[in-house]
Amino acid sequence: MKALEGVKILDFTHVQSGPTCTQLLAWFGADCIKVERPGVGDATRGQLRDVPDADSLYFTMLNHNKRSITLNTKNETGKEVLERLVKECDVLVENFAPGALDRMGFGWDRIQELNPRMIMASVKGFGPGPYEDCKVYENVAQCTGGAASTTGFLGGPPTVTGAQIGDSGTGLHLALGIVTALYQREKTGRGQKVLAAMQDGVLNLCRVKLRDQQRLQHGPLNEYSQFGQDIPFGEAVPRAGNDSGGGQPGWILKCKGWETDPDAYVYFITQAAVWPAICDLIGKPEWKEEPGYATPPERLDKISQIFDTVEEWTKTKSKFEVMDTCNPLNIPCGPILSMKELAEEPSLRETGTVVEVDHPVRGKYLTVGCPVKLSDSPAEVTRSPLLGEHTSEILSDVLGYTGDEYDRVVSSGAVGDIKAEAAE
Ligand code: COA
Repeated sequence: MKALEGVKILDFTHVQSGPTCTQLLAWFGADCIKVERPGVGDATRGQLRDVPDADSLYFTMLNHNKRSITLNTKNETGKEVLERLVKECDVLVENFAPGALDRMGFGWDRIQELNPRMIMASVKGFGPGPYEDCKVYENVAQCTGGAASTTGFLGGPPTVTGAQIGDSGTGLHLALGIVTALYQREKTGRGQKVLAAMQDGVLNLCRVKLRDQQRLQHGPLNEYSQFGQDIPFGEAVPRAGNDSGGGQPGWILKCKGWETDPDAYVYFITQAAVWPAICDLIGKPEWKEEPGYATPPERLDKISQIFDTVEEWTKTKSKFEVMDTCNPLNIPCGPILSMKELAEEPSLRETGTVVEVDHPVRGKYLTVGCPVKLSDSPAEVTRSPLLGEHTSEILSDVLGYTGDEYDRVVSSGAVGDIKAEAAE
């Protein structure tokens, strides 16, 4: 049995943020019914295609373990089917542009009328306020949530990060909101609205930068290397390159081969507890006792100089040799791993974090499996559905359409051409 077995999700999500959320719920065992427009489907099915006519990796990697029904929810019969789905399911998850569900005739009031136990969960770009009607994509959220202004190097432009903290990050927040609402429903019997705004999600992940914004009012941020370089701070938290900015200074350092390998680097942390071991390792045993170096506060104005010295040592080793040498000494460090290295890493295959999946149209591909491991509810990754692949079984098995009623729905055009779509 899986943790969320028996929970039915009406998955009205598309692109990345919403699908991230429902994919997680599906991995935890929920029955995830993805509702897509006939003949079109989630726009990402056709975006960034690498194999002709096959669903893109963008789509397949975000929609595992789901079922797909095609339904035109703007057609009268389509609305009737959607009403049945609302009555049958526990959670509706959507990330349409603001107002789209209301325009469809399925706003919160109508949903409650149809099913008072329904949890209606939404991703939107912004919460209530001046920007609530705006459409938002990943990098807009990174910029409006504080990530871009604090990412990049001092003097350089604001920078977005490869980690999809706006889309996938908000999907994670939404998933937590949904299971929390399901838990509360156990006691109250009532559903509720769950909103995860992308700006809020990104700001939550940038919490430490709002911390620093307030610390700035009481003096310079001594843990930023800019402090030791005598560069004055402005009014807002600056971009801090690869500074850890926290209690334990860190930086990205070159390793052997950096001249030709763009990923021959290591993140190195000069944790206070292992300072003597670091000094011995880099050939500076005198720094253990030397005034100006012996204690963490004394070292704060020398962060860049210290890392330049550590780098002279790391440049003589490969990033994995640095790791192998430092780990036994409890010195925290991490090699910069490329996507190629991660894709080929055997230990990630063993834990199911990187999984090979077979798809009837595109063949075998790699994906990221469930990043959260439950000992009593292990996640098995199954391929994403073809467009409308499960329309027929959802109409009959989940919604109970049979005989003439089934034929009426199928011939109405509300669900597209079942045979053609399943064969696609
Ligand atoms: N049958 C009929 N119509 C359907 C349908 C179905 N099964 N599914 C969706 N639609 C319609 C909607 O009703 C809506 O129509 P309307 O505008 O006439 O009301 C339309 O399809 C989809 O709208 P929208 O969400 O505006 O799509 P978009 O491609 O223009 O915008 C986003 C994409 C992501 C910018 C937008 O959805 C958004 O801002 N979402 C919230 C924030 C978010 O999640 N962003 C990150 C995405 S990774």
